[in-house]
Amino acid sequence: MAIKTVGIVGCGLMGSGIAQVCAEAGYRVIVREVSDDLLKKGLGKIESFLAKGVERGKVTPERKAEIRDRLEGTTSLEKLSGADIVIEAVVENLDAKREVYQVLDRVCPPATIFASNTSSLSITEMAAVTKRADRFVGMHFFNPVPLMKLVEVVRSPLTSAEAFERAVEFARSLGKTPVRATDRTGFIVNRLLVPYLLDAIRALEEGVGSVVDIDEGMRLGCGHPMGPLTLLDFVGLDTTYYIADIMFDEFREKRFAPPPLLKRMVQAGLHGRKTGKGFYDYSQDPPKPVGGLV
Ligand code: 3HC
Repeated sequence: MAIKTVGIVGCGLMGSGIAQVCAEAGYRVIVREVSDDLLKKGLGKIESFLAKGVERGKVTPERKAEIRDRLEGTTSLEKLSGADIVIEAVVENLDAKREVYQVLDRVCPPATIFASNTSSLSITEMAAVTKRADRFVGMHFFNPVPLMKLVEVVRSPLTSAEAFERAVEFARSLGKTPVRATDRTGFIVNRLLVPYLLDAIRALEEGVGSVVDIDEGMRLGCGHPMGPLTLLDFVGLDTTYYIADIMFDEFREKRFAPPPLLKRMVQAGLHGRKTGKGFYDYSQDPPKPVGGLV
């Protein structure tokens, strides 16, 4: 059965980006948020990304209108009952996700594929609360979703080969490059990225280099688009701390252990761009390194 309608649960940073790329690829998209306010905010993110695209001459006003027309917002999970695939991008909390899947499992037809955008929780554990563990996959997108080409497609020991390949093909139909991964915390990218980001914090703690020098080192020495401390501010220090903690819990390896500086910065509310301050202060343009961290 061809995928025509995509349901998205959650219209935050990731959910809104996923909804946008699905609508851009020609799918009808129904996106659900818990309140009208959050829905308005999420759809507003899509609107402003597309408006910037028009300003930059990357998108025509007609194409923007066409994409917006394919998007429908709702606050009801029941409205996703007609979706051929549902991608869940709600808060990284197992109980919250379980609750969503229990309702979806009841309202969606058996053929509907469920995909979680989790970056750190177990696909197998989520699949187990549904009666369709064979049609349950991970689809991990990267921020900013409309610009990042990768999707990690993840299978649990219960995912059928058919559902897995359909999800891979679906990711490809969005113009993304899918990579296949098994259900181990962090999948491929975070397994390699998180220890690297934590090591950059350790290097700062040990006085190996300043915030700017560590960032410039990796940006210019390795051709990374962002240095590790800028990337930490971009991803969110709270998010990175949360993921690292789950990875440390799974693997019990020192390289996944959040360093004390990360923990203190999270406790201090220095979460990066989202709170205006992390390793850099974003109230100034260009952002300036925050003093007194070490
Ligand atoms: N509409 C259409 N096109 C747009 C656009 C818009 N609103 N905004 C930007 N673009 C296009 C630009 O025109 C440009 O296209 P071009 O290459 O053809 O000229 C391209 O997108 C890049 O845009 P910018 O020049 O504005 O931005 P940068 O070149 O500074 O790149 C970035 C921005 C893509 C964010 C880059 O800095 C980057 O790749 N950073 C790293 C991001 C990253 O690593 N993300 C992953 C985080 S980890 C994660 O998400 C996993 C989680 O589990 C933790």
